[in-house]
Amino acid sequence: MFETLKSLAAARDGRRIDALFEQDAERAATFSIQHDGLLFDYSKTQLDSEVVEALLAVAEGADVAVRRDAMFNGQKINETEGRAVLHTALRNLDGAPVLVEGEDVMPEVLKTLARMEAVAHEIRGSEITDVVNIGIGGSDLGPKMGAIALSPYHDGPRCHFVSNVDGADIADTLKGCNPETTLFIIASKTFTTIETMTNARTAWDWLEKHDVSTDGKFVALSSNKEKAGEWGIPESRVFGFEDWVGGRYSMWGPIGLSLMIAVGPEDFRAFLRGGLAMDTHFREAPLAENMPVMLALVGVWHNQVLGHATRAVLPYDNRLSRLPAYLQQLEMESNGKGVSMDGADLAFNSGPVVWGEPGTNGQHAFYQLIHQGTRVVPCEFMVAAKGHEPELAHHHALLIANCFAQSEALMRGRTLDEAREKVAGKFEGDELERQAKHRVFPGNRPSTTLVYETLDPETLGKIVALYEHRVFVEGVILNINSYDQWGVELGKELATTLGPMVTGEQGADGKDGSTRQLLAFVHNNM
Ligand code: F6P
Repeated sequence: MFETLKSLAAARDGRRIDALFEQDAERAATFSIQHDGLLFDYSKTQLDSEVVEALLAVAEGADVAVRRDAMFNGQKINETEGRAVLHTALRNLDGAPVLVEGEDVMPEVLKTLARMEAVAHEIRGSEITDVVNIGIGGSDLGPKMGAIALSPYHDGPRCHFVSNVDGADIADTLKGCNPETTLFIIASKTFTTIETMTNARTAWDWLEKHDVSTDGKFVALSSNKEKAGEWGIPESRVFGFEDWVGGRYSMWGPIGLSLMIAVGPEDFRAFLRGGLAMDTHFREAPLAENMPVMLALVGVWHNQVLGHATRAVLPYDNRLSRLPAYLQQLEMESNGKGVSMDGADLAFNSGPVVWGEPGTNGQHAFYQLIHQGTRVVPCEFMVAAKGHEPELAHHHALLIANCFAQSEALMRGRTLDEAREKVAGKFEGDELERQAKHRVFPGNRPSTTLVYETLDPETLGKIVALYEHRVFVEGVILNINSYDQWGVELGKELATTLGPMVTGEQGADGKDGSTRQLLAFVHNNM
C-alpha cells in the first residue's frame, strides 16, 4: 500500500530540508494551510509536490471522503461494536438533523445541552466552592485538559479531577475541600469502571464521615442511566449520552460538564462552536487544503512510510500542559491496533507512540535526544500568536522565539565545520576535533508547527477537533477501527483476578513465577 511512497522516500534519502527552501521561495506557502485563525505549516518536512500527490492518492484510494461522510451521516463505522461515531453531533449547534437508524438525534442532544447549562448556572450561582470530577481516561483527560487550557476564562467554582484508583489521588484532593460545599461529578460512560466507582464510593463515605448529607451532592454523566440510578443518583442529576459517543471523544457533551461549570455555558458553547467550525472545514475543504487530512498525511509519511515510531507533541503553551496526555489517549487508544477492519494482521505500523510536554520545559529535559539522538522524532510544535497576559508580552515573545528556534534548529542542524568554529580557540588538534564532534547537530529533522491567534475557547475547540479528525483520517488510511479499544480488556480482567491475591483472600496458584514473586514481596511488606 505504501510502496510508491516508500520509493519516493528512498529517492529523497539524505536530501536536506533546508535546501528545499533555497530552491523554492514559495515553499512555506505551498506546504501550509491557513484557515479560520489557524496556520498549519508542514514545510519543514521532506514533503514535496510529488510526495503530497502520492499521499493524497493514498487518501483517495482509502475513500477518506466517503468514510468521512459516512461518519457524519451516522453510519455504524465502529464495526466491531456495531455503533455509529457521532461525537460531532454534540457540537452541531445549529441542530441540523443527524440521523441514526432513521432517527434524528439532535433534539435529544440539544435538550441535554440545555439541561447541562441549567445545572451549570445553578451550581455556579450556589454555595458550591469545589467541584470534583471523578472519572478516568476519556471521562477525565478531556475536561481536565480543557479546564487547564481555559484557565483565563475560569470564573466558576474550583474544579478538581480525581482519576487514579491510587487512594493518594482522592485523599490529596479532598484535603483541600470542604464537605459542605463540595459537589462530586461521577463521570463514566459505562458506570462500571472500577477506578471511578471506587473513588465515587470513597467520596460518598467522606461526606457521611463528615455528617454531611449526600443529597444533591452527586451528579452522574453516563450512557448507563440505569446503573447511575441504582447507585443512588436521581434522574434529574443524571446526564446521559448515547453509545455513539466514544469515551475519548466525549468532552463535547455531558462529560464536559466540569469544564462548563468552570468557564460558564457561554464559553463552553464557544468551545463547541470551534469544534463545529473544524468539522465544517473537514467536510468541505478539498483534501489538499484540508487541515486534518494534511496533518494525518504528514503523520502517515513519518510513521508508516519513514518508520519513525514516535511523534512528539510540543505545545509552547503552558496551558496546554495536558494536551499531550489527552492526545495520547485520543491517538493511541484509537489507532494502536494490530488488525485491519477485516481482521487481517496489519502489514504496516499501527499508529505511533505519542508523547510530549510543553515548551520551553521540554527543551531543558528531553530535547537533547530530539536534536542529537540516533532516532528521528518528528515534532509537532504549537504556539499562540498572542498570550493572555498583555503585561507579560515579553515572556510571550521569548516563548515564540524558542518555539520557532527549535524547529529551525532541528531542520538546519550544525555542521562539523560550524562546530569547529565554536570550539576553535578553546581546543587544538585532535582535542578540537573530538570536542567539535560532540557539538554537531545532524539537522534535517522534520517538524510541523501549528500557530493560532490565542488560546480562547473557540480555538481550543478547533484544535481538539483538528486532532480528532486527524486520528480518523489516519485510521481510515490504515483501514483499522479507530473507535474500539479491545486492547484495554485483558489487563482489566487480570486485575480482577489479582485483587483477592493481593489481599491474601486467595492464593496465587496458577500465576507465573514473576507475579508470584511480586505478590510475595508485597505480602511481606504490606
Ligand atoms: O479502559 C479504557 C476506557 O474504556 C476508555 O476508553 C474510557 O475513556 C475509560 O476507560 C473510562 O471509561 P468510562 O467512561 O466508561 O468509565
